[in-house]
Amino acid sequence: MSGLDKNSVVAVIGAGTMGAGIAQVAATAGHPVLLFDAQDGAAKAGISKLDKGLQGLLERRKISAETKKDILERIQVVDKLEDISPAELVIEAIVEDLGIKQAVFKTVQAFCAEKTILASNTSSISITEIGAALEKPENLVGMHFFNPAQILKLVEVVSGLATTKSVAERVYQTAGNWGKKPVFAKSTPGFIVNRVARPFYAESLRLLQEGAADVSTLDAIMRESGGFRMGPFELMDLIGLDVNFAVTNTVFSSYFSDPRFSPSLIQQELVAAGRLGRKSGQGFYDYQNGENAKPVEVVPDQLKIPAEITVFGDLGVAEPLLELAKNKEIKVNRQAGEGVIQLGDCTLVLSNGLFATVHAQREKIKNLVFFDLALDYASCQRIAICAADQTSDSAIKQARDFFSAIGKQVSMLDDIPGMAVMRTVCMLANEAADTVNQQVCQAEDIDIAMQAGVNYPCGPLQWADQLTVD
Ligand code: NAI
Repeated sequence: MSGLDKNSVVAVIGAGTMGAGIAQVAATAGHPVLLFDAQDGAAKAGISKLDKGLQGLLERRKISAETKKDILERIQVVDKLEDISPAELVIEAIVEDLGIKQAVFKTVQAFCAEKTILASNTSSISITEIGAALEKPENLVGMHFFNPAQILKLVEVVSGLATTKSVAERVYQTAGNWGKKPVFAKSTPGFIVNRVARPFYAESLRLLQEGAADVSTLDAIMRESGGFRMGPFELMDLIGLDVNFAVTNTVFSSYFSDPRFSPSLIQQELVAAGRLGRKSGQGFYDYQNGENAKPVEVVPDQLKIPAEITVFGDLGVAEPLLELAKNKEIKVNRQAGEGVIQLGDCTLVLSNGLFATVHAQREKIKNLVFFDLALDYASCQRIAICAADQTSDSAIKQARDFFSAIGKQVSMLDDIPGMAVMRTVCMLANEAADTVNQQVCQAEDIDIAMQAGVNYPCGPLQWADQLTVD
């Protein structure tokens, strides 16, 4: 099945944040685009926003003046919905309301050609349910772009119960021709990204609620150790706490109150207070006074670099730490064992999801310090550690000194199961695995979706494989 021909007309309904961006994507690929918005002046406003964006690209020499002119000339604003009738593909990006979307598609199907493909950019409404109101639900598919549509590569191509395979495949090919990374998904709540990403927010909110650390420390760990572009709290502030809270609530209720999607009381409080993030000047951070808070740094007093460490067994993903140690002239002795670092009387272990206190007691370890997962131990700037309740202060200092000596900032967490990065990544991988298990999509597509849609530094399933799934 091939994608749409370049000369095929594409219509976009709704010229807001998403619709205008989608119109630009289709026009950039060479299609004549018809843009309709029900609100007077909205389509023109959408075009002038595009114009500004393209001007920026021109000034940064990313496009030529001719390309800019061509793109804009290909987009034609139409005043009546009926004017989109020549379109072979109609993409709807209007208000997120089931009844209104159904009404618009019903109208469009009444005057468009029989084989016109109808695509909805909905982020949370069931494609099956929108289609239920249509005469030809087989022609309806989800075409879920990510914000900003001009930049983010992912397009989830979502099939409802009635969507024919050829319609989904045509849209998939078309998105590919437009330079996007399409993935197929079954119409289930949150599709892929909005479902698999839930633990990124949920686990950080739980860590905060459980007193693991403050907001800026947790953000710094997720960025500088986990390799995520933004920490969860600064990201929620950017998205808008009301928007993020609403998506969580929808996913939670759609999965019949499955507790792993439980919304957070902390977030509910902030929304109730009107602290919605950047847009209201305050959320997890206060934006009214300029700078965000910086993470609390653990500055080691009188850094004592160990002369040697003994490594028992294989450290798995954490092996690169040993190279860093050798580079600092720390002698690394190796012995058979279960993957631990012995550092004086401190036993350092990669977090295994238990409380350090429980693990220490079970394994009869006198001074246990857990360290958190990192995306890349060789290059990460930060490492989080946490100690068992029984661990002596001097053993904690030895752990801090070791990580400081090999060039890492050290963040101390309270003793919380799974720490921050390990816990979040494991829960992301778990959600991803469940999504595949429920046949929503292919395993490879989850990793593509999370990297191309929300910029994750590694696909959650690939990350789980690196860590070894057990
Ligand atoms: P928006 O509020 O920026 O734009 C919606 C536009 O649709 C407005 O200009 C409005 O006048 C127009 N509109 C409303 N009802 C209409 C109708 N009956 N006929 C024609 N035009 C109508 O909204 P946004 O953010 O662009 O969202 C649009 C859709 O895209 C929603 O379904 C949303 O869930 C989805 N989406 C939004 C993303 C985001 O980050 N904003 C990301 C991915 C999907």
